[in-house]
Amino acid sequence: MRSINHSNESIFCGDELVPTLINLVTKKAPSLIVVLTDEHTKAHCYPAIAPHLRQWKTHLICIPSGESSKSITQSEALWVELSQLGADRDSLIINLGGGVITDLGGFVAATYQRGIDFLNIPTTLLGMVDAAIGGKCGVDLGPLKNQIGVITSALGIIIYPPFLNTLPQRELISGWIEMIKHGFITEQDYLKATLLFETSDLNKIESLIWASVMIKNKIVQSDSSEKGARKTLNFGHTLGHAIESYGLHTHGQNWIKHGEAIALGMALACYLSHKLYAFPEQVLNNYLWVVRKHVTFPKFDKKEITTIIDYLKYDKKNSHGAVNFVLLKAIGQEVLDAKVNSILIYEAFDFINQE
Ligand SMILES: NC(=O)c1ccc[n+]([C@@H]2O[C@H](COP(=O)([O-])OP(=O)(O)OC[C@H]3O[C@@H](n4cnc5c(N)ncnc54)[C@H](O)[C@@H]3O)[C@@H](O)[C@H]2O)c1
Ligand SMILES: [Zn+2]
Repeated sequence: MRSINHSNESIFCGDELVPTLINLVTKKAPSLIVVLTDEHTKAHCYPAIAPHLRQWKTHLICIPSGESSKSITQSEALWVELSQLGADRDSLIINLGGGVITDLGGFVAATYQRGIDFLNIPTTLLGMVDAAIGGKCGVDLGPLKNQIGVITSALGIIIYPPFLNTLPQRELISGWIEMIKHGFITEQDYLKATLLFETSDLNKIESLIWASVMIKNKIVQSDSSEKGARKTLNFGHTLGHAIESYGLHTHGQNWIKHGEAIALGMALACYLSHKLYAFPEQVLNNYLWVVRKHVTFPKFDKKEITTIIDYLKYDKKNSHGAVNFVLLKAIGQEVLDAKVNSILIYEAFDFINQE
């Protein structure tokens, strides 16, 4: 089992799911364990841990899958259920699922009785390389992404790659996009490795997952409150989140996945980086060539782009009313708080539309 041990958050990755889990839970000695799942992770992942939790008082909660569960309404229902179960400050929540479950479950744990411990067991690729790590958790406000939340720490994060065997291909692609993001913001070799990676080849995935975990972990540890370096992790997310919010509001939750919106957001950010900071055009074109084989970008007309630009005002990196982009001069060389004229954003959408 590979591991990174911090006083605030330990991360484990490998085949030894059960011993690692038992070890962490035994150390915690919880008064009650609440396992949070959705219907897919209840069916595909819960059976791997359920028999081993019998020695503790355990309760399973299953919520509907999908982004619409990342809401204050769902949080309140969970707070009420925890209260009715008699959960106290020694209780433990195990978040068993993708980014929706770890974002929501972490937020509920961090706020219930001013904070109880939680473990993340990410079951999607996106969760394993990104969402479950780093302590950011929260919920959406209507279609507005992640507007309510906290930065906290999980007691531990256990990454068990065999859970990916049941993950639908579209979800694998969505996670792969965040791995490509880690390449863009760090180094050429990792970008190359992720672009070459075939999501059908799950045998090779563990070492790539671990590389992404180390990248994210290093950035988060250097800037846990997101004042500086951590903003880099938002590469592609300024427009990506706006596109996701537009999609949630206009077409509902299955129209575009988080990773798919970020795939387009990164294409636009690469174009803006090229225009403003001479980011190499060839890297942009290669990225588009590879990613387009797996993700179909939606085409937006001018009115829709205006609506998307309007969503930028809710971006959490904004300050004093100005939208702050994360752009790149080159692979691994970020420009934080970049200001971008709307005309150039329309131009970027035109460029991607024409491709
Ligand atoms: N906190 C962070 O730092 C951070 C970072 C990136 C993304 N996110 C958030 O993560 C969310 C997206 O996460 P996601 O892509 O994991 O989505 P998700 O949690 O909705 O999971 C995707 C789908 O896969 C199913 N699923 C999960 N594991 C499965 C398995 N092993 N087998 C079969 N089906 C399985 C789920 O039920 C769901 O239907 C977004 O809300 C995004 O904002 C958070
Ligand atoms: Zn993301």
